[in-house]
Amino acid sequence: MISAKLLDQRSVIVTGAGQGLGQAIAEVFAGHGARVAVADLNAVAAASVAARIEDRGGTAMCVEADVRDPASAEHLVRACQDAYGSVDVLVNNASVIKPSTLRKMTVEVWDEVLDVHLKGSWLMMREASKAMRGQGSGTIVNISSIVAKTGGIAQGHYAAAKAAIVGLTKTAAKEWAPFGVRVNTVQPGLFGTPGARAMAEGAWQARIQDTPLGRAGEPHELANAVLFLACDMSSFVTGAVLEVTGGRDM
Ligand SMILES: NC(=O)c1ccc[n+]([C@@H]2O[C@H](COP(=O)([O-])OP(=O)(O)OC[C@H]3O[C@@H](n4cnc5c(N)ncnc54)[C@H](O)[C@@H]3O)[C@@H](O)[C@H]2O)c1
Repeated sequence: MISAKLLDQRSVIVTGAGQGLGQAIAEVFAGHGARVAVADLNAVAAASVAARIEDRGGTAMCVEADVRDPASAEHLVRACQDAYGSVDVLVNNASVIKPSTLRKMTVEVWDEVLDVHLKGSWLMMREASKAMRGQGSGTIVNISSIVAKTGGIAQGHYAAAKAAIVGLTKTAAKEWAPFGVRVNTVQPGLFGTPGARAMAEGAWQARIQDTPLGRAGEPHELANAVLFLACDMSSFVTGAVLEVTGGRDM
């Protein structure tokens, strides 16, 4: 029997939840009964999202966290366990963009992008899986990108990290299935978040032209896809890659 509140009383961590898609995921999950740890490098933004959720009758707390830092990842998982008693869902969503062509890219920029997207996802998975394996249940959703499949000019570091997240997801899905932990990934197309709107207007319009549904996605439309993978509706889905792109680059 599946409850209308798809995440009732589940304890959730969403990284990079201070704005954009992470914020939408935190808010949609809270609307489905989840208790949400809103985690972000930007503590002020995280606090504001957690306050919005609480104002609407949901349950949330903010945690300042840097997913690149093993101690910070450990602290974030412990904060969720201490407050809510478990870690049932992890969404790895934190992001930096830093566009640069491969020839001009510095080692520092390469490291920063790989550290946030790839190393950060692994560190968070490693910590959360300890709790989930102990519980014998849990779901992890890693946010990749359709750029993992297509590549993108000035996005070499980002595309490499997002493609690697697919391999990381499938490996974790195999390693942790015996412990009742499912791991999946979502590949968004174009969504109008602060991060994505920083691109040039011409690039934005070109992406819309390439999208069969003819528009950018609304953040809640991505959040609903993540919700499906996070909740019991997807109980037989693990190691999957779900494109949420309006048909772009299908
Ligand atoms: N928006 C899109 O069109 C789009 C398309 C494809 C994939 N994505 C992916 O979706 C996810 C969300 O994208 P978005 O556009 O909402 O991003 P965004 O740039 O709007 O927000 C990212 C958030 O991550 C936080 N963050 C950055 N570094 C962090 C760190 N080290 N630790 C913790 N938090 C950190 C930022 O403070 C920010 O609040 C990202 O993984 C992104 O790659 C987005």
